[in-house]
Amino acid sequence: MGTTSKGTMSKSDIHKLILDNLATSVVMLNGTLTIEYMNPAAEMLLEASSRQLNKKPISAWFSADGAELETLHAALESGHPYTRREARLVTHNGHELTVDYSVNPVPGVGETLLLIEIEARDRLMRIEREEELLSRHATARTLVRGLAHEIKNPLGGIRGAAQLLQRELDNIELHEYTHVIIEEADRLRNLVDRLLGPRKLPKIEDVNIHAILERVCSLVTAETAGAIRLVRDYDPSIPELKADAEQLIQAVLNIMRNSMQAMQGAETVTPQIKIRTRALRQITLGAEKHRLVCCIDIVDNGPGIPDEILNKIFYPMVSGRAQGSGLGLSIAQSIINQHHGLIECRTEPGETCFQLFIPLELKYESVR
Ligand SMILES: Nc1ncnc2c1ncn2[C@@H]1O[C@H](COP(=O)(O)OP(=O)(O)OP(=O)(O)O)[C@@H](O)[C@H]1O
Ligand SMILES: [Mg+2]
Repeated sequence: MGTTSKGTMSKSDIHKLILDNLATSVVMLNGTLTIEYMNPAAEMLLEASSRQLNKKPISAWFSADGAELETLHAALESGHPYTRREARLVTHNGHELTVDYSVNPVPGVGETLLLIEIEARDRLMRIEREEELLSRHATARTLVRGLAHEIKNPLGGIRGAAQLLQRELDNIELHEYTHVIIEEADRLRNLVDRLLGPRKLPKIEDVNIHAILERVCSLVTAETAGAIRLVRDYDPSIPELKADAEQLIQAVLNIMRNSMQAMQGAETVTPQIKIRTRALRQITLGAEKHRLVCCIDIVDNGPGIPDEILNKIFYPMVSGRAQGSGLGLSIAQSIINQHHGLIECRTEPGETCFQLFIPLELKYESVR
């Protein structure tokens, strides 16, 4: 943001500052109903950058509803403003939104322009849902960690006693039994360690999200011998974020491994994982409003998550796989929560998307 001198800003700087920080989405259409301008809130709402949508007709917003377009044309001709409540819009990525919007015809150079202000109706619902997700997750983790501690303490004793016993046993054949005790105690300890989560304090440094994703991609390629197609759609403008690189790798790998496993078990024609990154502005996560958030979408074309477990996949020990311990997503969610972020998921057969939101600056303000 350019300032002429400390404390004085030009009028256009102030206008830009206001538009960039408005929670309301603002879109300007020209006389042919193509997009001339979108503010960051509108980019976020419509899931596309103004670069992607500039000069695009807005007909794509209103799925099959020609009536909405006719009303916009009528407003252009008559110059009368109007407001719509609970209208359905379709975003750039094909998601449906419920919004209120008002349309104001304004005189431009040689043509009338339409100024549209959009207010998302789902926003408050989303804040509440996320808060609930975060608090449910925190409760489950506290419970499981407490239990894991209680299991871990006697385990050391059992293992130690079995070792002592083994030394005292002259009959080698009986060692088979002490081996079983020691091996099973070790197996249980591994599980308990995973339940307890990382013991080290996070090592926060500047990390490049794409370097992290590339590390995970090379691990996935190695594990699947290249059987899964990885499609990258990176936004190179995302600045570095303050994070623990090892933990982020772990979180993303847990999600990608699930995709790999889901696709291995199913007859997906060409197994594919799409990795998309975007910088989003003015995002609310839980009750915190963040100025800039890094959003990572990991989308696979596998069979989708079974309905029976969809609402609880982030809980520890919930698994849909015979061999699964059900910890991968719970650990991933904890890691991203520690970075003040959130993971969300939506799924249907042929498209499962995990969305990771990580704030790019740790300064935030409460919206409540
Ligand atoms: N991309 C996906 N496609 C289909 N199902 C999924 C996907 N991601 C997760 N799941 C379902 O969610 C369950 C929970 O995943 P989570 O990673 O927490 O545990 P897990 O994979 O079963 O075990 P672990 O990761 O501890 O080895 C999985 O068992 C699977 O049924
Ligand atoms: Mg897993």
